[in-house]
Amino acid sequence: MARSRTLLPESRFGSTLRRDAWWTEIIPVVVVLGAFGVYATLRAFENAYYSWGPYLSPFYSPLIDPQHHWWPFSPALLILVGPLGFRATCYYYRKAYYRAFLLDPPACAVGESPRRNYRGETAFPFILQNVHRYFFYLAVLFIAFLWHDAIRSFFFDSHFGVGVGTLVLTINVSLLSLYTFSCHSLRHLAGGKLDCFSCATFGRSRFEAWSFLSFLNERHMLFAWCSLVSVGFADFYVRMVACGAIRDLRIL
Ligand code: FES
Repeated sequence: MARSRTLLPESRFGSTLRRDAWWTEIIPVVVVLGAFGVYATLRAFENAYYSWGPYLSPFYSPLIDPQHHWWPFSPALLILVGPLGFRATCYYYRKAYYRAFLLDPPACAVGESPRRNYRGETAFPFILQNVHRYFFYLAVLFIAFLWHDAIRSFFFDSHFGVGVGTLVLTINVSLLSLYTFSCHSLRHLAGGKLDCFSCATFGRSRFEAWSFLSFLNERHMLFAWCSLVSVGFADFYVRMVACGAIRDLRIL
C-alpha cells in the first residue's frame, strides 16, 4: 500500500506512473489459465477416453472406481481436489491470478479499486491459502502415481516399447516433478526457516538440500507454466488416441 501511495498520482483503479505496457503481463495469464480451467473442467466431467493401452490420462490418475461400484460420477472428480488445490494455493499462481482475475492490484505500482478493503491472507476466504504445505504433501503422492503411470507406459502387452504417448507421459511427469519439488514450501521445510545452518541438526545436509531446492525454486514460475501446458497436452493426447482421432506412433 505504501508503494502505491508513493507512486500513484491518485488512488483510482488502473492509475499508474508506469510507462510500459504493464497489462501485457496479465493477458497471457487470463488466456492460458482461463483456457486450461475450461478444458480441465470439461475433461473431468467427460468421464470417457481417459485411457488407451498402457496410457492413462494424468487427469484421471490414480484411477479410482472406473466401474462405478460405489462412485456414480467421473473418477476424475474424486482426485481433482489434490492437483487443483496444490495449484490454486501455489505462491506463484496466487500472485498471477490475484493480478489477472481479481485485478487486486492488476500489476506492481498500478492502482487497484479504492473501494477494496484488502486484508491480505489473514481473513476468510484467503486465509485458506495457508494450507498450501498440506497440498504439497498430497502432490508428492500424486507424483508417485504419475511416475508409476509413466513407467507403465513403456509396456505394451507386457513387452517393452516406446510410443509417442510414452514420451508425452514421461516428459509430463518430469515437468510436474520439477514444479512440485521447486515449491516454496519444500524449500522452507528443507532450510528456509533456519537462521543458522551450522547450529541445526544435519545442518550441512540441509544446507546442500536447501541450496539445490533454491536453484529449482528460482525457476518455479517457468516450471509452473511448462507443467500446466504439459499436463493439459498429455490428457489431450491420450484422449485423441483413445477416441481414435489419431494413432499412437510406436518408436520402439
Ligand atoms: S509455491 Fe508453487 S507449488 Fe508450492
